[in-house]
Amino acid sequence: MTTAVTARAHTNIALVKYWGKADQHLILPETSSLSLTLDQFYTDTTVAFDPALSADEVTVNQQRLSPAASQKVRHLLDLVRAQSRQDTFARVTSTNHVPMAAGLASSASAFAALAGAASQAAGLTLSRRDLSRLARRGSGSATRSIYGGFVEWHAGHNDATSYAEPLLEQVTWPVAIVALVLDPHQKRVSSRQGMQASVATSPYYPAWKQVVAHDLAAIKPAILDHDFTQVGEILESNAMRMHALTLSADPAFSYFNGATLTAMQTVRDLRAAGIACYYTLDAGPNLKVFCQSQDIAAITARFTHDFGHDRVIVAHPGPGLSWL
Ligand code: DP6
Repeated sequence: MTTAVTARAHTNIALVKYWGKADQHLILPETSSLSLTLDQFYTDTTVAFDPALSADEVTVNQQRLSPAASQKVRHLLDLVRAQSRQDTFARVTSTNHVPMAAGLASSASAFAALAGAASQAAGLTLSRRDLSRLARRGSGSATRSIYGGFVEWHAGHNDATSYAEPLLEQVTWPVAIVALVLDPHQKRVSSRQGMQASVATSPYYPAWKQVVAHDLAAIKPAILDHDFTQVGEILESNAMRMHALTLSADPAFSYFNGATLTAMQTVRDLRAAGIACYYTLDAGPNLKVFCQSQDIAAITARFTHDFGHDRVIVAHPGPGLSWL
């Protein structure tokens, strides 16, 4: 079985965040979450199982990974080998198409593409639900990248019940995400470590679970109604409350830098000037600004003026997993 299979998956931005695991091993989240898959950022991954190999070989962006660096990839391959009842090693070649060095998460697109390519290369024909469950075992946010558009990850309570489902896959709503890259370097505290510290030590964690339940119930009808203001207000407050879990952890930490706070004020200034836009941010200092297509030019012009030309990337709703 040496047929090479290539899959493509796009990254996603969470509008209601996943921040905390109920089960570290199975990657079962404490809460459900909801995201928008983006067209601009994606990963292409090719997998071939080859009996001539004596170990898995993993290459990302033309760099061969050490066994330590490829541990999560090999773990997912082990799951695929177990499901397809074989023990052949694999050659994995992956390219991240992210316009600027790091700064934007690639683990979501990476593990969704790996789940798609590895399962098919192993001869498995998985449903999208099962692909979503498999991708989850690599990285939680990858669960959602199997689908395009607006996607909900149902927390579930075990491996079988924790998977994503599209809320609105064919998006005709003219919305966009303007990403403002303030620091393209690797994050100091990984999301995995950061969320674990928040669950274990933030006294606000129980309140966060209520926030997510409330925000999910409110954002879903707002998305289906194309209620831009309602969606924007929810995603911005949800992001701030997620980041409050880092500031309230022991020891406290933050993903913000000085420019992050300045950029948040710029978004509020834009709003005060009549340009509707709302920010969210993940485990890093960069803002992703949710806006309507008609306002992209004004927002981009302001960001370029304040933060520099090579810092702004515009993305639109993107598609789900595909095979090339
Ligand atoms: C802030 O999916 O990177 O982006 O499951 O440990 O791999 P692991 O974490 P990861 O965490 C994503 C956190 C987030 C919010 C989100 O995408 O929902």
